[in-house]
Amino acid sequence: MSKAIYPGSFDPMTCGHLDVIRRSADIFDEVTICVLNNVNKSALFSVEERVNILKEATKDLPNVKVESFSGLLIDYAKKKDIYVVIRGLRAITDFEYELQIAQTNRKLSGDRLDTMFLTTSLEYAYLSSSTVKEIASFGGDISECVPEFVAKLVYEKYGVAPQR
Ligand code: PNS
Repeated sequence: MSKAIYPGSFDPMTCGHLDVIRRSADIFDEVTICVLNNVNKSALFSVEERVNILKEATKDLPNVKVESFSGLLIDYAKKKDIYVVIRGLRAITDFEYELQIAQTNRKLSGDRLDTMFLTTSLEYAYLSSSTVKEIASFGGDISECVPEFVAKLVYEKYGVAPQR
């Protein structure tokens, strides 16, 4: 059975993430989305909230699982017996950061953990969780960036009503 792991902060999950998840689920028999529990990074949503959002958004994809992890990705992947990491590449600006993570994981895992990049669909190439949060914090329109139920949760976090 082909398995892959899709790690990230997902704070919050965007339509760009969902696009990568759907396409990965078509390629692999099983995709495990892993939400990083990073104690050093302050997040808008708790890990539990982020996991629940991802579960809701992927409930129609039977071969997608959502979990959380802390520590090194290579340790988590090894425990799960998974040797492919999925990451989305939006633009050349992502490349340096992604290359560094991919090469670090490969080195740390003794060449066992490889990374497969999916280029983000063009309509989501501009999207990031950070820009979604910034737009929403001012009540701006994020309806094309995240699913409707996620937009509602983000506005609630900021205590703002979306501009119509
Ligand atoms: O969505 P993000 O924040 O760009 O995801 C980054 C992530 C979670 C993939 C990366 O930070 C990660 O894998 N962190 C776990 C710690 C780790 O394994 N570090 C070594 C590789 S840099």
